[in-house]
Amino acid sequence: MSRGSEFVVVANRLPVDRNVGPDGVPRWRRSPGGLVSAIAPVMRRRQGTWIGWVGVPGEELEPFEEDGMALHPIAQSAQEVELYYEGFSNATLWPLYHDVVAPPVYDRAMWDAYVRVNQRFAEAAAKVAAKGAIVWVQDYQLQLVPRMLRELRPDLRIGFFLHIPFPPTELFWQLPWRRRILEGLLGADLVGFQLPGAAANFVRLCRRLLDARYTKQDVYWDDRVVRARAFPISVDVGELDDLVGRSDVQERAQEIRTDTDDATILLGVDRLDYTKGITQRLQAFGELVQEGHIRPGQAVFVQIATPSRERVEQYQLLREEIEQLVGRINGEHGEIGFPVIHYLHSSYDRPELAALYLAADVMVVTPLRDGMNLVAKEYVACRKDLRGALVLSEFTGAAAELKRGAFQVNPYDIDGLKSTLLDALHAEPAEQARRMRSMRRRVIEHDVDRWAEEFLSELENPARSVPAQPPV
Ligand code: ADP
Ligand code: G6P
Repeated sequence: MSRGSEFVVVANRLPVDRNVGPDGVPRWRRSPGGLVSAIAPVMRRRQGTWIGWVGVPGEELEPFEEDGMALHPIAQSAQEVELYYEGFSNATLWPLYHDVVAPPVYDRAMWDAYVRVNQRFAEAAAKVAAKGAIVWVQDYQLQLVPRMLRELRPDLRIGFFLHIPFPPTELFWQLPWRRRILEGLLGADLVGFQLPGAAANFVRLCRRLLDARYTKQDVYWDDRVVRARAFPISVDVGELDDLVGRSDVQERAQEIRTDTDDATILLGVDRLDYTKGITQRLQAFGELVQEGHIRPGQAVFVQIATPSRERVEQYQLLREEIEQLVGRINGEHGEIGFPVIHYLHSSYDRPELAALYLAADVMVVTPLRDGMNLVAKEYVACRKDLRGALVLSEFTGAAAELKRGAFQVNPYDIDGLKSTLLDALHAEPAEQARRMRSMRRRVIEHDVDRWAEEFLSELENPARSVPAQPPV
């Protein structure tokens, strides 16, 4: 029998998706989203096993290796995908944790599936992990795993990181299974959040809901100390630096500029998600064109939107809304061969994304709420030429770190968004360089390796023993 892995990552998704091409041949494709962008480089550099789902209902696969990582697939039936993944994870928790920007669905069958699938992940981790191993559980889909895993394997050191916001008490209180979620998370030795405010929300909830003893950053639970800390996630600066240094990427950026007739390029890159504020940014841009502040042909908006969670109703509604909006704006202001918005509902590889970042004069990141937003940091990491401007929503985790360099906006304020877009469009090269330099300093010093290092060294530190008299 093998000794098991010393380092295990548990996430709903594996870093690759199984995708069947038009020729019927299955292929591996990078999975969408920021979690994979951040964890994959860390995983490649540390030997370990990644437990997750391949993105296809009912697919049962043996462990395999891909892109230098040991992957351990977990199956989900079609019904589990509907109830656990599309349901409790993405129709209940996702909107609840993002300021209720869409109404959360509370459904008992969805909750039951969430418990069942979390148990399956915990059992797989218990099997794969070596004695005393580090197990790092990721994100809102798996909040019950820490406790389930501790019951199966008390010898493990268990960390949990939440990639999305953790809501304030008033919102979390709505959740019918609120105690179970907190107890699930308290199975970890260390619970990590993007921002200090989220960690504080968690500690406050443990006090109010569970009557747990606590200090500012610790919760005393089950004769253990559970640490709650902020670790703002980041990007793989080295990878992006290599990409933008490549001549084919630079040539492609030039080609994008030529293809858009050397117009000023405003760029949006997101999963097609209602938290991202895509409607608001396109509306603001459309009004600027309508009012003559931006002339068609002088500037174009390129919006790249990765298909995401396409069977969830709110995502379907959003897609319809955006496609109508783009159609209307292009219909009113575009000319033959010159749309004012280029809308691409598709996923791109890393070199193409890097070329887009290099070609963009203004990067527009306007979420209504976002745990961090890696796209903003990727743009900054790619602009070693110190050109370009970043328009960034105040409601992203990234805003706390990039406040001095970004053009900050409240995406709910369409007039404010319009004037900020104009400020960014009109920024002189010297101002662009000053702002970009300050943002780059932050992103380069705090890249994803440092993030992982800080989390894991905090996790590896033995927790302080519970004092005889825990604080109140
Ligand atoms: P989220 O995790 O909510 O999707 P982030 O901005 O934190 O948001 O991370 C998104 C990640 O997905 C980034 O690494 C970004 O480069 C990648 N991404 C976003 N849109 C696309 C796309 N159309 N094609 C390929 N990658 C994309
Ligand atoms: C965000 C979440 C991740 C998720 C990703 C893509 O980054 O924090 O947990 O994996 O979006 O979403 P999906 O539902 O396609 O996995």
